[in-house]
Amino acid sequence: MNPPQVQPLYCEPKINPERLWDSLQEMSRIGATDLGGVRRLALTNEDKRGRDLFVDWCQAAGCTISIDQMGNIFARREGADSSAPAVMTGSHLDSQPTGGRFDGTYGVLAGLEVIRTLNDYRYVTHAPLEVAVWTNEEGTRFPPAMIASGVFAGVFDLTYGLSRTDRDGLTLAQELRRIGYAGPREVGGRRVRAYIEAHIEQGPILEAERRTIGIVSGAQGQRWYEISLTGQEAHAGPTPMTYRRDALVGAARIVQQVNRIGQSYLPGACATVGVLEVYPGSRNTIPGRVFLTVDLRHPEEETLAKMDLELRDCVDEIANASGLTISLEQIWHSPAIRFDPTCMRVISNAAARLGLTRMSIVSGAGHDACYLSRVAPTGMIFIPCERGISHNEAESIRAEDAAAGGQVLLMALLELAERG
Ligand code: GLV
Ligand code: MN
Ligand code: MN
Repeated sequence: MNPPQVQPLYCEPKINPERLWDSLQEMSRIGATDLGGVRRLALTNEDKRGRDLFVDWCQAAGCTISIDQMGNIFARREGADSSAPAVMTGSHLDSQPTGGRFDGTYGVLAGLEVIRTLNDYRYVTHAPLEVAVWTNEEGTRFPPAMIASGVFAGVFDLTYGLSRTDRDGLTLAQELRRIGYAGPREVGGRRVRAYIEAHIEQGPILEAERRTIGIVSGAQGQRWYEISLTGQEAHAGPTPMTYRRDALVGAARIVQQVNRIGQSYLPGACATVGVLEVYPGSRNTIPGRVFLTVDLRHPEEETLAKMDLELRDCVDEIANASGLTISLEQIWHSPAIRFDPTCMRVISNAAARLGLTRMSIVSGAGHDACYLSRVAPTGMIFIPCERGISHNEAESIRAEDAAAGGQVLLMALLELAERG
């Protein structure tokens, strides 16, 4: 039996929390790990399967699908005025190597749930709605992060985006073609009336403050670096300590300094060495070469710039004192951003109408919304995640928070899609 037609003025559509939760569970089976997380690195076979499932679900919900040259997917539900710029939501389906089930996936499937709900109610919005899946948000396989939303927003050019390589030398373009997601559409140039992304907080604040909804006011800036140290490989036995040029000892000093920089710009600063590759990786050979990555973050650009200078000074000092050759390259800078006040107000009003506890919050993580904010009024909705743990297979959320965030998303998108 068809659901009854409901007049939007008198009855506000309500999402189906069980359907949202079931879809989250089903998606998390793709690339599932033994410890309860997911491994769905960008443009791997698992990513393809996740994308295929999303596309199938959206087509079943009556959406038209388009895919651009960066592999970004747009599922569109027509509005009464198909020529009006779309109201967009979305996030990403790729994960960290040992990722959680909800990072990114939550925002994508909350968007799909909005569309399914509007279908249930036969609700026609004025502006079209679109749910986007952005390619390679994590940047873990193809650095930097948020590359495809960055090309969409005109921050990177297409050639740069497609030529990013993974650690095996495969390009993003090759891997997009291999999994069948090198789409025909030009990247960017879509008319977006507003973009609202739902995401888990990935930190401990909402839980500690006992709030269900975070109204995200902006995101901190971040800079990514790649550092290579070259010393000399030598035998671990016959080579006296005074003769050595051990690249790993230099790297260890850099790791210490990166941590010290983070500690010295509190509150707010974060500083991380996430990758350390030691060559040749033999227990009785002194390491001749090390590759490492640094991730520096701060909500204020001026402070982030100071952290940058300090890192460069430390690396120079370590090179001079050790006799190692050290190269440092900043490969990415995503400046601190602020989201659109109207989008924040719309999210806040929706949460208030639902009687949900809420607070304003700055995102510690990067999100595709950061780049979208350059081309459209943008906002984000956060929900709590258990103990603030994310980028971890143990990442977990409560079904009632998932539902609350989904309902706020629905109401925010409806309001934005009706505005004249
Ligand atoms: C994205 O996950 C980030 O590193 O902030
Ligand atoms: Mn994410
Ligand atoms: Mn992530």
